[in-house]
Amino acid sequence: MFKNILMCKPKYFDVIHYKLNEHMLMKQKVNYDRAYIQWRNLENNLLYQGVKVNYIKPQKNLVDMVFAANGAIVYNNKAIVSNYNAIPRKKESKYYSNFFVVNGYDTYEMKTEFEGAGDGLFSHCRTHLWLGYGFRSNKDSKTEIEDIISDHNLEIHTLKLTNPLWYHLDTCFCPFGVDRLMLYEKAFDKESLRKIYNVFDEEKCIKVSDEDAENFACNSISIPNNILIGHSYTPKLKEKLRDIDYRGIETLMSEFLLSGGSTKCCVLDVERYRDNEVEKKIQISYGP
Ligand code: ARG
Repeated sequence: MFKNILMCKPKYFDVIHYKLNEHMLMKQKVNYDRAYIQWRNLENNLLYQGVKVNYIKPQKNLVDMVFAANGAIVYNNKAIVSNYNAIPRKKESKYYSNFFVVNGYDTYEMKTEFEGAGDGLFSHCRTHLWLGYGFRSNKDSKTEIEDIISDHNLEIHTLKLTNPLWYHLDTCFCPFGVDRLMLYEKAFDKESLRKIYNVFDEEKCIKVSDEDAENFACNSISIPNNILIGHSYTPKLKEKLRDIDYRGIETLMSEFLLSGGSTKCCVLDVERYRDNEVEKKIQISYGP
């Protein structure tokens, strides 16, 4: 659940690298004004819902820096800054690193290729961390992250992504609430699905359709009050969410979809959860 996030204004946002991911076909030019309005709407939606928003300064020539999710992952007071596989994005690391140092996080820079919260998602009140690999992040990032975090309360799993359209884990895997998950099964291999359903109750998982997956429904931001914020949801998916008392709020992100990103890609969870807070949550979810 996101309560305290980092965002980067799309001042220099553009799509200039052909097929940096399979969505970036450059058939249509980015409409900069529209991108700005869409980003502002997302920011306003989050602020209106009481989410704290922090900002990192956009940098000239770093056209993808708006996708703050890729900057790092944060666990308690530790910020683990990305080592981008995407060459045009490599220079972003030093700006994200600087943000965390200045704001007093224990900051670590990854040696293994790893694209932050795009490929690293927590679930079950931060007792599980899921790492996607196959396109951008390296499977070996697990060992390095395990060493940095070194917390036996956290179980770390790797998931193999198999479809280049779902190249970051946050495009096809969306943990929300305490133990809920929305996912696009076709983005994973069998072994990964097995790992997922070993931890998440399959009956309770929402398996999204091709249409929802293509509209980046799994790239949703889960915020307090049982709300998910995404680009668009089919009526069927909305109904499934309503059945479990969740609400899907839509905010248009069409310009960012041209770059292979949506709402969740534009935010990074920077909350410093303290150990006792996590413990409290575990008690609530599993009973005393
Ligand atoms: N154009 C960006 C890239 O290819 C999109 C990043 C999307 N971010 C994400 N967290 N899925 O790197």
